[in-house]
Amino acid sequence: MALKSKDLLGLKDLTAEEIHYILNTAKTMKVILLSKNKKTPHLQGKSIITLFYENSTRTRLSFELASKYMSASAANISVASSSVAKGETLIDTGKTIDMMGADVIILRHSMSGAPHLLARNVNASVINAGDGMNEHPTQALLDMFTIIEKKGSLEGLKVAIIGDIYHSRVARSNIWGMTKLGAEVSVAGPSTLIPPELERTGVKVFNTVQEALIDADVVMGLRIQLERQKKGLFPSIREYSRFFGLDEKRLKLAKEDALILHPGPVNRGVELPSSVVDSDKSLINEQVTNGVAVRMALLYLLTRRDSDESIN
Ligand code: CP
Repeated sequence: MALKSKDLLGLKDLTAEEIHYILNTAKTMKVILLSKNKKTPHLQGKSIITLFYENSTRTRLSFELASKYMSASAANISVASSSVAKGETLIDTGKTIDMMGADVIILRHSMSGAPHLLARNVNASVINAGDGMNEHPTQALLDMFTIIEKKGSLEGLKVAIIGDIYHSRVARSNIWGMTKLGAEVSVAGPSTLIPPELERTGVKVFNTVQEALIDADVVMGLRIQLERQKKGLFPSIREYSRFFGLDEKRLKLAKEDALILHPGPVNRGVELPSSVVDSDKSLINEQVTNGVAVRMALLYLLTRRDSDESIN
């Protein structure tokens, strides 16, 4: 099979079959990633450009390493020192990159829908590396990959997502992806940070973190976006931690073998205490490694859409 679109803009647009296809390809990529010689020729002759209008460590570096491990020509545009600072529009910047022969442009932008706009205006494939409050599809793919690696499947699993759901593109992509793969998703957070329309999507919304955690197979803490705190959407960091922090006592409500995930970066002592971040149940470090494998798979699949060649 092949991915239907030239772009990866969100999990809302993918079928369950396409998600499985990406995750299965990532399994093979992880074997390559963990091997002694990570250099493969899969992207030889391809050019991959990262264009990030917002800060990033994990997403940007994992795309860059994924490109390099597979022998692509990879370059990063540092927005602050580029012609964006002279007022160049996103479309003009994108077209400029396109005309230099880029095969894939990976975009992070504060505006929801920016990757969709870019994708309509360039020949290159566009990957959404996070757009405003909308989606962060590659994060959700790596989260699902991490869970499936441990549990075998998402079908029937109870997943609790805790925190600032309203501003979280990670939560939105995970809700789209996990429900398509058969998980039962629950959320909890301050009521001002829960989007009112969420219950219509089949997600269970709880007022307390305790209710959401009962019998959960997977617990995902979300980063509290400290920049939003100025808007007074919750009383204080201390209050947030007191009512929604995922400490050991609360986590006992989840299943004994529950997995703990967080997309990073973690505000230690706010969403999770260090004792949980660094515990055996925490998969935060594995998520980072799996992020490279998933991004290798996506780059491979998007640049091979016209080819019958399969990696498996
Ligand atoms: N999880 C995530 O997107 O991290 P970065 O902001 O470091 O890319």
